[in-house]
Amino acid sequence: MNDRLLSLVSALNENGSLSVEEYEYLIENRTPDLSERLHRLALEKRRSVYGDEVYIRGLIEISNICKNDCFYCGIRKSNKECQRYRLSPSDILNCADEGYSLGFRTFVLQGGEDLYFTDEVLGEVVSEIKRRYPDCAVTLSLGERCDGSYKYLKDAGADRYLLRHESAVKSHYEMLHPKEMSYENRMRCLETLRALGYQVGCGFMVGSPYQTANILAHELKFVETFRPDMCGIGPFIPHCATPFKNMSAGTLEMTCFLLSVIRLIHPRVLLPATTALGTVAPDGREKGLLSGANVVMPNLSPTSVRKKYELYDNKICTGEESAQCVECLRRRVESVGFKVVTSRGDVKK
Ligand code: SAM
Ligand code: FES
Repeated sequence: MNDRLLSLVSALNENGSLSVEEYEYLIENRTPDLSERLHRLALEKRRSVYGDEVYIRGLIEISNICKNDCFYCGIRKSNKECQRYRLSPSDILNCADEGYSLGFRTFVLQGGEDLYFTDEVLGEVVSEIKRRYPDCAVTLSLGERCDGSYKYLKDAGADRYLLRHESAVKSHYEMLHPKEMSYENRMRCLETLRALGYQVGCGFMVGSPYQTANILAHELKFVETFRPDMCGIGPFIPHCATPFKNMSAGTLEMTCFLLSVIRLIHPRVLLPATTALGTVAPDGREKGLLSGANVVMPNLSPTSVRKKYELYDNKICTGEESAQCVECLRRRVESVGFKVVTSRGDVKK
Protein backbone atom coordinates (compact mmCIF):
# COMPACT_ATOMS: atom_id res chain seq x y z
CA MET A 1 0.00 0.00 0.00
CA ASN A 2 1.50 3.35 -0.98
CA ASP A 3 1.83 6.35 1.36
CA ARG A 4 -0.97 8.25 -0.31
CA LEU A 5 -3.42 5.38 0.25
CA LEU A 6 -2.34 5.06 3.87
CA SER A 7 -2.85 8.74 4.52
CA LEU A 8 -6.27 8.73 2.79
CA VAL A 9 -7.39 5.82 4.95
CA SER A 10 -6.38 7.59 8.15
CA ALA A 11 -8.01 10.85 7.02
CA LEU A 12 -11.21 8.96 6.26
CA ASN A 13 -11.11 7.15 9.58
CA GLU A 14 -10.51 10.36 11.53
CA ASN A 15 -12.69 12.88 9.67
CA GLY A 16 -15.25 10.82 7.75
CA SER A 17 -14.60 12.93 4.70
CA LEU A 18 -12.48 12.99 1.56
CA SER A 19 -12.67 15.01 -1.65
CA VAL A 20 -14.26 13.48 -4.76
CA GLU A 21 -10.77 13.10 -6.28
CA GLU A 22 -9.56 11.33 -3.15
CA TYR A 23 -12.51 8.91 -3.10
CA GLU A 24 -11.82 8.18 -6.76
CA TYR A 25 -8.15 7.53 -6.06
CA LEU A 26 -9.07 5.15 -3.23
CA ILE A 27 -11.49 3.23 -5.46
CA GLU A 28 -9.16 2.99 -8.44
CA ASN A 29 -6.10 1.98 -6.46
CA ARG A 30 -7.74 -0.38 -3.99
CA THR A 31 -5.99 -3.66 -3.29
CA PRO A 32 -7.00 -6.65 -1.15
CA ASP A 33 -4.75 -5.24 1.60
CA LEU A 34 -6.43 -1.86 1.50
CA SER A 35 -9.90 -3.44 1.63
CA GLU A 36 -8.82 -5.61 4.55
CA ARG A 37 -7.70 -2.53 6.45
CA LEU A 38 -10.94 -0.66 5.66
CA HIS A 39 -13.07 -3.63 6.77
CA ARG A 40 -11.17 -3.76 10.07
CA LEU A 41 -11.58 -0.05 10.73
CA ALA A 42 -15.26 -0.15 9.73
CA LEU A 43 -15.89 -3.02 12.14
CA GLU A 44 -14.24 -1.08 14.97
CA LYS A 45 -16.46 1.92 14.22
CA ARG A 46 -19.69 -0.09 14.04
CA ARG A 47 -18.77 -1.84 17.30
CA SER A 48 -18.18 1.47 19.06
CA VAL A 49 -21.71 2.63 18.15
CA TYR A 50 -23.82 -0.54 17.82
CA GLY A 51 -21.73 -3.17 19.67
CA ASP A 52 -22.43 -6.60 18.23
CA GLU A 53 -26.11 -5.91 17.57
CA VAL A 54 -27.74 -6.43 14.17
CA TYR A 55 -31.20 -5.02 13.55
CA ILE A 56 -33.80 -6.97 11.62
CA ARG A 57 -36.53 -5.45 9.46
CA GLY A 58 -39.52 -7.38 8.19
CA LEU A 59 -39.80 -6.71 4.47
CA ILE A 60 -43.32 -6.86 3.04
CA GLU A 61 -43.38 -6.56 -0.76
CA ILE A 62 -46.85 -5.10 -1.12
CA SER A 63 -47.13 -4.85 -4.92
CA ASN A 64 -45.10 -5.47 -8.05
CA ILE A 65 -47.33 -3.21 -10.14
CA CYS A 66 -45.35 -0.16 -11.21
CA LYS A 67 -46.06 2.83 -13.41
CA ASN A 68 -42.34 3.41 -13.97
CA ASP A 69 -39.98 1.88 -16.47
CA CYS A 70 -36.51 1.99 -14.89
CA PHE A 71 -34.18 0.24 -17.34
CA TYR A 72 -32.66 -2.03 -14.67
CA CYS A 73 -35.76 -3.20 -12.84
CA GLY A 74 -37.53 -6.53 -13.35
CA ILE A 75 -40.93 -5.13 -12.32
CA ARG A 76 -40.80 -2.21 -14.79
CA LYS A 77 -44.07 -1.62 -16.55
CA SER A 78 -42.78 -2.76 -19.97
CA ASN A 79 -41.97 -6.22 -18.68
CA LYS A 80 -44.99 -8.06 -20.03
CA GLU A 81 -43.71 -11.41 -18.72
CA CYS A 82 -44.00 -10.29 -15.13
CA GLN A 83 -47.02 -11.78 -13.35
CA ARG A 84 -48.46 -8.88 -11.44
CA TYR A 85 -49.85 -9.02 -7.89
CA ARG A 86 -50.96 -6.67 -5.19
CA LEU A 87 -51.47 -7.48 -1.51
CA SER A 88 -54.72 -6.27 0.01
CA PRO A 89 -54.64 -4.18 3.20
CA SER A 90 -55.68 -7.24 5.17
CA ASP A 91 -52.91 -9.37 3.55
CA ILE A 92 -50.41 -6.72 4.64
CA LEU A 93 -51.76 -6.66 8.18
CA ASN A 94 -51.57 -10.46 8.34
CA CYS A 95 -47.88 -10.28 7.36
CA ALA A 96 -47.30 -7.71 10.09
CA ASP A 97 -49.11 -9.90 12.66
CA GLU A 98 -46.93 -12.84 11.75
CA GLY A 99 -43.84 -10.64 11.79
CA TYR A 100 -44.64 -9.27 15.22
CA SER A 101 -44.88 -12.76 16.67
CA LEU A 102 -41.55 -13.63 15.02
CA GLY A 103 -39.92 -10.73 16.89
CA PHE A 104 -39.93 -7.93 14.32
CA ARG A 105 -40.28 -4.37 15.57
CA THR A 106 -39.84 -2.68 12.18
CA PHE A 107 -41.92 -3.34 9.10
CA VAL A 108 -40.80 -2.17 5.70
CA LEU A 109 -43.59 -1.82 3.15
CA GLN A 110 -41.93 -1.88 -0.25
CA GLY A 111 -43.39 -1.94 -3.72
CA GLY A 112 -43.59 -0.56 -7.21
CA GLU A 113 -45.31 2.77 -7.80
CA ASP A 114 -48.81 1.29 -7.80
CA LEU A 115 -51.57 3.88 -8.09
CA TYR A 116 -53.96 1.65 -6.13
CA PHE A 117 -52.06 2.65 -3.01
CA THR A 118 -53.53 6.10 -2.58
CA ASP A 119 -52.80 8.14 0.54
CA GLU A 120 -56.08 6.99 2.06
CA VAL A 121 -55.46 3.28 1.46
CA LEU A 122 -51.85 3.40 2.63
CA GLY A 123 -52.59 5.75 5.51
CA GLU A 124 -55.17 3.27 6.85
CA VAL A 125 -52.66 0.42 6.68
CA VAL A 126 -49.90 2.42 8.36
CA SER A 127 -52.13 3.69 11.16
CA GLU A 128 -53.58 0.23 11.77
CA ILE A 129 -50.08 -1.28 12.11
CA LYS A 130 -49.17 1.49 14.55
CA ARG A 131 -52.44 1.00 16.47
CA ARG A 132 -51.85 -2.75 16.83
CA TYR A 133 -48.16 -2.43 17.52
CA PRO A 134 -47.26 0.97 18.98
CA ASP A 135 -43.79 -0.32 19.81
CA CYS A 136 -42.98 -0.86 16.12
CA ALA A 137 -41.54 1.41 13.45
CA VAL A 138 -43.04 1.55 9.96
CA THR A 139 -40.73 2.17 7.04
CA LEU A 140 -42.08 2.94 3.59
CA SER A 141 -40.23 2.29 0.33
CA LEU A 142 -42.76 3.14 -2.32
CA GLY A 143 -40.93 5.50 -4.60
CA GLU A 144 -41.70 9.05 -5.59
CA ARG A 145 -44.87 10.70 -4.29
CA CYS A 146 -45.89 14.31 -3.93
CA ASP A 147 -45.00 16.37 -0.87
CA GLY A 148 -48.58 16.28 0.43
CA SER A 149 -48.59 12.51 0.23
CA TYR A 150 -45.36 12.14 2.20
CA LYS A 151 -46.85 14.47 4.83
CA TYR A 152 -50.12 12.53 4.95
CA LEU A 153 -48.26 9.26 5.50
CA LYS A 154 -46.02 10.79 8.14
CA ASP A 155 -49.11 12.01 9.97
CA ALA A 156 -50.59 8.51 9.67
CA GLY A 157 -47.59 7.23 11.65
CA ALA A 158 -44.84 6.28 9.17
CA ASP A 159 -41.42 6.69 10.77
CA ARG A 160 -38.92 6.10 7.99
CA TYR A 161 -38.69 6.26 4.21
CA LEU A 162 -36.23 4.51 1.93
CA LEU A 163 -35.74 6.10 -1.46
CA ARG A 164 -32.50 5.21 -3.15
CA HIS A 165 -31.25 8.21 -5.08
CA GLU A 166 -29.91 5.66 -7.66
CA SER A 167 -27.24 8.04 -8.94
CA ALA A 168 -25.84 11.32 -7.66
CA VAL A 169 -24.71 12.25 -11.17
CA LYS A 170 -27.55 13.59 -13.31
CA SER A 171 -26.17 12.32 -16.64
CA HIS A 172 -25.75 8.83 -15.15
CA TYR A 173 -29.21 8.92 -13.54
CA GLU A 174 -30.55 9.59 -17.03
CA MET A 175 -28.81 6.52 -18.46
CA LEU A 176 -30.68 4.33 -15.96
CA HIS A 177 -34.14 5.85 -16.32
CA PRO A 178 -36.53 6.86 -19.09
CA LYS A 179 -37.05 10.55 -19.69
CA GLU A 180 -40.30 10.63 -17.70
CA MET A 181 -38.23 10.25 -14.53
CA SER A 182 -35.99 13.02 -13.31
CA TYR A 183 -32.96 13.35 -11.12
CA GLU A 184 -34.32 16.65 -9.80
CA ASN A 185 -37.55 15.07 -8.64
CA ARG A 186 -35.74 12.22 -6.92
CA MET A 187 -33.58 14.69 -5.02
CA ARG A 188 -36.58 16.87 -4.21
CA CYS A 189 -38.36 13.86 -2.70
CA LEU A 190 -35.37 13.12 -0.48
CA GLU A 191 -35.24 16.73 0.73
CA THR A 192 -38.99 16.76 1.45
CA LEU A 193 -38.81 13.50 3.38
CA ARG A 194 -35.99 14.88 5.50
CA ALA A 195 -37.85 18.17 6.14
CA LEU A 196 -40.96 16.25 7.24
CA GLY A 197 -39.00 14.49 9.96
CA TYR A 198 -38.74 10.99 8.51
CA GLN A 199 -35.61 8.95 9.15
CA VAL A 200 -34.45 8.90 5.53
CA GLY A 201 -32.57 6.32 3.51
CA CYS A 202 -30.83 6.93 0.20
CA GLY A 203 -28.68 4.51 -1.79
CA PHE A 204 -27.53 3.17 -5.12
CA MET A 205 -26.69 -0.02 -6.96
CA VAL A 206 -23.03 -1.00 -7.10
CA GLY A 207 -21.84 -1.77 -10.62
CA SER A 208 -24.91 -0.36 -12.33
CA PRO A 209 -24.44 0.06 -16.09
CA TYR A 210 -22.15 2.95 -17.08
CA GLN A 211 -21.01 3.52 -13.49
CA THR A 212 -17.35 4.58 -13.31
CA ALA A 213 -14.96 5.11 -10.39
CA ASN A 214 -15.58 8.84 -10.77
CA ILE A 215 -19.34 8.32 -10.51
CA LEU A 216 -18.87 6.11 -7.44
CA ALA A 217 -16.74 8.85 -5.90
CA HIS A 218 -19.67 11.23 -6.41
CA GLU A 219 -22.00 8.68 -4.76
CA LEU A 220 -19.74 8.64 -1.72
CA LYS A 221 -19.61 12.44 -1.64
CA PHE A 222 -23.39 12.56 -1.85
CA VAL A 223 -23.77 10.07 1.01
CA GLU A 224 -21.26 12.12 3.01
CA THR A 225 -23.07 15.45 2.53
CA PHE A 226 -26.69 14.25 2.56
CA ARG A 227 -26.09 12.46 5.87
CA PRO A 228 -28.80 9.80 5.49
CA ASP A 229 -30.03 7.82 8.50
CA MET A 230 -29.99 4.68 6.33
CA CYS A 231 -28.07 3.81 3.20
CA GLY A 232 -29.09 0.92 0.95
CA ILE A 233 -26.39 -0.32 -1.38
CA GLY A 234 -26.30 -3.65 -3.13
CA PRO A 235 -24.88 -4.99 -6.38
CA PHE A 236 -26.76 -4.39 -9.62
CA ILE A 237 -27.88 -7.75 -11.01
CA PRO A 238 -29.28 -7.97 -14.55
CA HIS A 239 -32.84 -9.12 -15.14
CA CYS A 240 -33.45 -11.12 -18.32
CA ALA A 241 -36.52 -9.12 -19.39
CA THR A 242 -35.02 -5.62 -19.15
CA PRO A 243 -32.92 -3.50 -21.53
CA PHE A 244 -29.92 -4.19 -19.26
CA LYS A 245 -30.21 -7.97 -19.58
CA ASN A 246 -26.74 -8.32 -21.09
CA MET A 247 -24.94 -5.99 -18.69
CA SER A 248 -22.63 -7.43 -16.07
CA ALA A 249 -23.50 -7.58 -12.40
CA GLY A 250 -21.84 -5.58 -9.63
CA THR A 251 -19.40 -7.48 -7.43
CA LEU A 252 -19.31 -8.63 -3.84
CA GLU A 253 -15.82 -7.19 -3.51
CA MET A 254 -16.73 -3.66 -4.61
CA THR A 255 -19.94 -3.65 -2.53
CA CYS A 256 -18.07 -4.69 0.63
CA PHE A 257 -15.36 -2.11 -0.04
CA LEU A 258 -18.01 0.63 -0.32
CA LEU A 259 -19.90 -0.59 2.77
CA SER A 260 -16.71 -0.10 4.77
CA VAL A 261 -16.07 3.36 3.34
CA ILE A 262 -19.66 4.41 4.11
CA ARG A 263 -19.35 3.10 7.68
CA LEU A 264 -16.22 5.24 8.11
CA ILE A 265 -17.99 8.28 6.64
CA HIS A 266 -21.00 7.89 8.96
CA PRO A 267 -20.27 5.60 11.91
CA ARG A 268 -23.94 5.77 12.99
CA VAL A 269 -25.66 5.07 9.67
CA LEU A 270 -27.99 2.05 9.39
CA LEU A 271 -26.47 -0.08 6.68
CA PRO A 272 -28.20 -3.22 5.40
CA ALA A 273 -26.50 -6.35 4.12
CA THR A 274 -28.95 -6.66 1.21
CA THR A 275 -30.65 -9.59 -0.47
CA ALA A 276 -28.85 -8.65 -3.70
CA LEU A 277 -25.53 -9.14 -1.88
CA GLY A 278 -26.73 -12.60 -0.80
CA THR A 279 -27.66 -13.29 -4.42
CA VAL A 280 -24.23 -12.56 -5.95
CA ALA A 281 -22.51 -14.80 -3.38
CA PRO A 282 -23.85 -17.44 -0.98
CA ASP A 283 -22.05 -15.78 1.95
CA GLY A 284 -22.59 -12.24 0.63
CA ARG A 285 -24.63 -10.99 3.57
CA GLU A 286 -22.14 -12.38 6.09
CA LYS A 287 -19.34 -10.63 4.22
CA GLY A 288 -21.43 -7.45 4.23
CA LEU A 289 -21.79 -7.64 8.02
CA LEU A 290 -18.04 -8.15 8.32
CA SER A 291 -17.52 -5.00 6.24
CA GLY A 292 -19.63 -2.76 8.49
CA ALA A 293 -23.29 -3.47 7.69
CA ASN A 294 -25.58 -3.70 10.74
CA VAL A 295 -29.08 -4.43 9.36
CA VAL A 296 -30.68 -7.45 7.67
CA MET A 297 -34.12 -7.58 6.09
CA PRO A 298 -35.75 -11.01 6.05
CA ASN A 299 -38.70 -11.37 3.73
CA LEU A 300 -42.17 -11.46 5.33
CA SER A 301 -44.18 -11.44 2.09
CA PRO A 302 -46.56 -14.38 1.57
CA THR A 303 -44.66 -17.21 -0.17
CA SER A 304 -47.30 -17.23 -2.93
CA VAL A 305 -46.06 -13.85 -4.25
CA ARG A 306 -42.34 -14.00 -3.43
CA LYS A 307 -41.19 -15.21 -6.82
CA LYS A 308 -43.16 -12.46 -8.55
CA TYR A 309 -41.25 -9.63 -6.88
CA GLU A 310 -38.29 -10.39 -9.07
CA LEU A 311 -36.24 -7.21 -9.44
CA TYR A 312 -33.30 -9.21 -10.82
CA ASP A 313 -32.54 -12.79 -11.89
CA ASN A 314 -32.08 -15.58 -9.35
CA LYS A 315 -33.21 -13.54 -6.34
CA ILE A 316 -32.79 -15.60 -3.17
CA CYS A 317 -35.31 -16.21 -0.34
CA THR A 318 -38.25 -16.69 -2.69
CA GLY A 319 -39.25 -20.18 -1.52
CA GLU A 320 -38.98 -20.10 2.26
CA GLU A 321 -41.69 -19.36 4.79
CA SER A 322 -41.12 -16.18 6.80
CA ALA A 323 -40.17 -18.09 9.93
CA GLN A 324 -37.53 -20.03 7.96
CA CYS A 325 -36.12 -16.82 6.52
CA VAL A 326 -35.77 -15.32 9.98
CA GLU A 327 -34.08 -18.41 11.36
CA CYS A 328 -31.74 -18.64 8.40
CA LEU A 329 -30.67 -15.02 8.81
CA ARG A 330 -30.32 -15.34 12.56
CA ARG A 331 -27.90 -18.23 12.06
CA ARG A 332 -25.96 -16.34 9.43
CA VAL A 333 -25.65 -13.30 11.68
CA GLU A 334 -24.45 -15.45 14.59
CA SER A 335 -22.00 -17.33 12.40
CA VAL A 336 -19.98 -14.12 12.00
CA GLY A 337 -20.08 -13.13 15.66
CA PHE A 338 -23.05 -10.76 15.85
CA LYS A 339 -26.48 -11.09 17.42
CA VAL A 340 -29.93 -10.22 16.11
CA VAL A 341 -31.90 -7.99 18.48
CA THR A 342 -35.63 -7.48 18.85
CA SER A 343 -36.02 -3.72 18.91
CA ARG A 344 -37.10 -0.89 16.64
CA GLY A 345 -33.44 -0.28 15.89
CA ASP A 346 -33.58 3.45 15.34
CA VAL A 347 -30.50 5.25 14.14
CA LYS A 348 -28.32 6.32 17.08
CA LYS A 349 -28.12 10.10 17.07
N1 SAM B 1 -40.48 1.66 -6.14
C1 SAM B 1 -39.66 1.95 -5.00
C2 SAM B 1 -38.48 2.81 -5.40
O1 SAM B 1 -38.32 3.08 -6.58
O2 SAM B 1 -37.76 3.25 -4.51
C3 SAM B 1 -39.18 0.72 -4.25
C4 SAM B 1 -38.99 -0.53 -5.03
S1 SAM B 1 -37.54 -0.54 -6.05
C5 SAM B 1 -37.80 -2.00 -6.95
C6 SAM B 1 -36.28 -0.92 -4.85
C7 SAM B 1 -34.84 -0.87 -5.31
O3 SAM B 1 -34.52 -2.05 -5.99
C8 SAM B 1 -34.48 0.22 -6.25
O4 SAM B 1 -34.23 1.39 -5.55
C9 SAM B 1 -33.23 -0.34 -6.96
O5 SAM B 1 -32.04 0.26 -6.48
C10 SAM B 1 -33.28 -1.83 -6.62
N2 SAM B 1 -33.22 -2.63 -7.86
C11 SAM B 1 -34.09 -2.58 -8.90
N3 SAM B 1 -33.64 -3.37 -9.92
C12 SAM B 1 -32.47 -3.92 -9.51
C13 SAM B 1 -31.51 -4.79 -10.12
N4 SAM B 1 -31.68 -5.23 -11.35
N5 SAM B 1 -30.42 -5.15 -9.41
C14 SAM B 1 -30.25 -4.70 -8.14
N6 SAM B 1 -31.10 -3.86 -7.52
C15 SAM B 1 -32.21 -3.47 -8.19
FE1 FES C 1 -40.81 0.54 -10.71
FE2 FES C 1 -38.42 1.46 -11.20
S1 FES C 1 -39.62 0.19 -12.47
S2 FES C 1 -39.69 1.99 -9.56
